[in-house]
Amino acid sequence: MSNPTDRSASQTPAAQAPAGQTTRRITVTVNDTTANHDIAVRQSLSDFIREDLGLTGTHLGCEHGVCGACTILLDGQAVRSCLMLAVHADETTITTIEGLAEPDGTLHPIQQAFHESHGFQCAFCAPGFVMTTMALLNSNPNPTKEQIREELSGNLCRCTGYHTILKGVETAVQLYGSGRRDASETTDTNRQDGGTANA
Ligand code: FES
Ligand code: FES
Repeated sequence: MSNPTDRSASQTPAAQAPAGQTTRRITVTVNDTTANHDIAVRQSLSDFIREDLGLTGTHLGCEHGVCGACTILLDGQAVRSCLMLAVHADETTITTIEGLAEPDGTLHPIQQAFHESHGFQCAFCAPGFVMTTMALLNSNPNPTKEQIREELSGNLCRCTGYHTILKGVETAVQLYGSGRRDASETTDTNRQDGGTANA
C-alpha cells in the first residue's frame, strides 16, 4: 500500500494553496473522465470523491488510515483516500470501484472473482479489498499466498474471518492476474498458429 504522505511531501509548489486561500481548482481524471473542480483546500480526497463526485462506493470506516475501506487507485497505486487532501490529487488519475464494471453492468474480473468465491458478507469492506487486489495484481500478476496476505494486511473486515476474501484473491489471479495472461498468451499463440493448436 502506498503511503500518501510520501506523495504529499513531493507535491510541486503549484499544488500548494497560497496562505489564506480556502478554495482551489484542481484537474483530475476519475474513472476516465477528466474535469476541473473547485474544492476546499482542507477537503479530504475521500470526501471529494463521495460528496462532490457522488461516488459513494468508496467507503469510510475509520477515517484515519486504519481500515482500508476508502482505498482507491491514484496513478495506479493503492491509496487511502481518507488520509490525503483532494488538492494533492491535482493532475492525477483516479480509479474508484465505480470505474471497474463495464457500462452494461458486466463485473470486472476481480469483482467476479469475489462474487464467485462468496468473498464478503455485508461487503462494507469490499471496495477497499477489490481496489487493493487490483493494485496487487497489476504489479504482480501471480502473487504467492504470503504476498497476498501481506498486501491485504492493511484492510480490515468485520465479518468474514478473511478466508473467503483470500480465496477471492486466488480466484482473481485466475480471472485477472497470471491466469488470464496465460490464457491470452495461449490465444495469441493459437492465432499465430492459425488455430492449429486447437485442431
Ligand atoms: S476510512 Fe480510510 S483507512 Fe479507514
Ligand atoms: S464483509 Fe462485512 S466488513 Fe467485510
